[in-house]
Amino acid sequence: MIEVVALSKNRGGKRVLEDLSLSLAEGGVTAVVGPSGGGKSTLLRCLNGLEPFDAGGILIAGHQLTPGGHPHALLERIRRDVGMVFQQFNLFPQMTALENVMLAPRVVSRLSAAEARSRAVGLLERVGLDGFAQARPATLSGGQQQRVAIARALAMQPRVILFDEPTSALDPAMSSEVLEVILDLARGGQTMVVVTHDHALAQRAATHVVELVAGRIQRQGSPAEVLIPAVGSG
Ligand SMILES: Nc1ncnc2c1ncn2[C@@H]1O[C@H](COP(=O)(O)OP(=O)(O)O)[C@@H](O)[C@H]1O
Ligand SMILES: [Mg+2]
Repeated sequence: MIEVVALSKNRGGKRVLEDLSLSLAEGGVTAVVGPSGGGKSTLLRCLNGLEPFDAGGILIAGHQLTPGGHPHALLERIRRDVGMVFQQFNLFPQMTALENVMLAPRVVSRLSAAEARSRAVGLLERVGLDGFAQARPATLSGGQQQRVAIARALAMQPRVILFDEPTSALDPAMSSEVLEVILDLARGGQTMVVVTHDHALAQRAATHVVELVAGRIQRQGSPAEVLIPAVGSG
């Protein structure tokens, strides 16, 4: 589902990604870990075409990305197949939870209002938010907002979902609500890439872990190979 070959990217004369290669099969979950500034967010933005790169290649959900700028039509196609969930949720504040989840299927996939609504209702239920359809983001907790954001990403029925530190803005109780949703998706075979500082999340959700340090892959392998077991994690 994802194949990255010898990806390199410079920014302002500085190399931010250096000769990265990784692959992810359909239904797999890759966790990307490593210190801040290591290039994790940059990698995700290269994967969904939001940032150009200088060398190497990316194949994601059947779309081929090459160095330099990407044609608008290609980015549109990637947007349908690759969902994105951010640390700060990025919900539309003036819309209800339901409207947030309905929007992309209506606008991008031109689903009828009835179809988009029924899909959105089902997804809010799936993330444990039935009863919150009419709530606006500001009235929800961080964990609830992030679950709406996940439902919104799922609404496009993406082949891959990219998460950029989905639990970093959340306290432990809210993080675990979001972790449960991510684990449920993993069990359902959703292909995902999850950037996270949370080794418990990586340990439990990932099939593959990539450690990115200063733009280079330091290590990659199974969670057991790459992650140092947390003390007392039993
Ligand atoms: N918009 C930007 N402009 C200039 N430099 C940036 C920008 N975003 C990130 N960087 C730099 O690129 C490198 C990688 O950053 P980033 O991908 O955000 O790392 P991470 O997500 O692992 O914290 C860092 O050196 C960071 O300072
Ligand atoms: Mg980042």
